[in-house]
Amino acid sequence: MPPVRRLTSAAIRARKGKRFPVITAYDTPFARCVEEAGIDVILVGDSLGNVVLGMDSTAPVELEDMCRHAAAVKRGTSRAHVIVDLPFGTYQVGDEDAVRSAIALVKAGAMSVKLEGGRDLASRIAAIVKAGIPVVAHIGVLPQTASSNAGFRRKSDPRALLADARAVEAAGAFAVVLEMVDAEAARTVSEAIAIPTIGIGAGPHCDAQVLVLHDALGLYPEAPPFAKRFAELATLATAALRTYAAEVRDGAFPAAPPAGAAESDAPVYVVTAPS
Ligand code: KIV
Repeated sequence: MPPVRRLTSAAIRARKGKRFPVITAYDTPFARCVEEAGIDVILVGDSLGNVVLGMDSTAPVELEDMCRHAAAVKRGTSRAHVIVDLPFGTYQVGDEDAVRSAIALVKAGAMSVKLEGGRDLASRIAAIVKAGIPVVAHIGVLPQTASSNAGFRRKSDPRALLADARAVEAAGAFAVVLEMVDAEAARTVSEAIAIPTIGIGAGPHCDAQVLVLHDALGLYPEAPPFAKRFAELATLATAALRTYAAEVRDGAFPAAPPAGAAESDAPVYVVTAPS
């Protein structure tokens, strides 16, 4: 088998100043679609809790959830760089705890990990990087703790954001997500640091953009206003399922075999060993 060549964190860092797309994915079929679409940086976000598991925040998401979905995304891709979120409670207690959690994600398939926090979390980033695991930082609005703090209110203080961005860069992060940051503040931060900024609701001046897959595809009814919907898949899926249900009820599906055709007893699938 030819060696699998995936995009490295160093190659992503070297994209500073070049615009590139990032999107979340949580399962094998959608990870395949993302890679087919030419997007080579995938985030297995803890937004999993909201958009896939039906939770009302990301706080209840467990490390095991992230490991399972990271593995599924890895199986659906062959070239993409897979970043995986450290969920709430798996890195706040101390540096050692953070390293242990990051190692669990790497064993499940993560190529790098992301955590929420700026200056206050710099030692965690440094500890994880020292263990050989690349880190993406996340500053601005921090969804894991937003509801117990200032809420989902846009951040606009360029000095505070700059201090956080510089701290995470100095700690060794190879990129930083700016979530719900004023566009001019995001421009200031993007121009001031040497690692790529990845914006979400942070205007057009970041190096990269990230969206939650289910928001972008119209699969999540409570998408934030900044998340452009590039499709309405929930509407399409519901229409397809209505057609299926109607065809079962009225007998149109399954179609009767053509008269005289012998139905084969041959198995229609084979079980293969996992690769
Ligand atoms: O969990 C997630 O999907 C994220 C993005 C919003 C950046 O952290």
